Amino acid sequence: TPADLIIAVDGPAASGKGTIALRLAQYYGLPHLDTGLLYRAVGLGVLDRGGELGDAALAERVARALRPSDLTDIPRLTDRGAGEAASRVAGHPGVRADLLDLQTRFARQPGGAVLDGRDIGTVIAPDASAKLFVTASPEVRARRRWLQLTARGETIAFDDMLADILKRDARDAGRGAAPMVQADDAALLDTTDMDIEAAFDAARRIVETSRAR
Ligand code: CDP
Ligand code: CDP
Repeated sequence: TPADLIIAVDGPAASGKGTIALRLAQYYGLPHLDTGLLYRAVGLGVLDRGGELGDAALAERVARALRPSDLTDIPRLTDRGAGEAASRVAGHPGVRADLLDLQTRFARQPGGAVLDGRDIGTVIAPDASAKLFVTASPEVRARRRWLQLTARGETIAFDDMLADILKRDARDAGRGAAPMVQADDAALLDTTDMDIEAAFDAARRIVETSRAR
């Protein structure tokens, strides 16, 4: 219904979209789905079966068999390799199609929902009440992700982290199926010089302005 509040939060890796989405969900009392976890679980599922990430048929079988219990091992799902694997399987149109229904149903539940990913405002919820495209400079994003992974004991050089981020940006923006792109009606939120609190405040203002329309 028009009263439902659907918030779409898209953007590149480590832009802060997940943190913002979670904070908005808490603030508005809405359920939140990090859609990146779905692609991460599919990528890991392919690797766990000893398969190749380029094998579209296998990735589709994994996507169709995905269960909630595949989304519970957050440390493993959010490690460096899983992000890379996710962006490889996310390029298969069949995988995206298999994950579509679950995401649209989540977005359309009574009251609304907050989803974050790459194609929420463009494909999953084009009719969202508010759309944000969250960005930050590649250097700042690499630093954020480096701090995150290093704090968890992963060893990685900053330059390798930056190279990872740039490669993933190019792959996600360059693919044919639902590429990462700012929706025409999405508000751009550049968090390069913002801490989490400032980014959340700016996001909340964008949501309030959008839903008032
Ligand atoms: O947190 P981070 O931005 O590093 O990654 P993520 O949001 O967990 O997404 C991992 C990968 O999944 C991305 O690089 C995309 O290739 C893919 N993805 C997608 O294609 N569509 C989405 N809605 C969400 C993620
Ligand atoms: O979901 P996404 O990959 O876009 O990023 P995130 O997981 O929300 O944020 C990546 C890391 O950057 C987390 O450790 C956040 O706490 C941190 N962050 C930050 O330092 N400043 C911001 N304005 C946003 C996030």
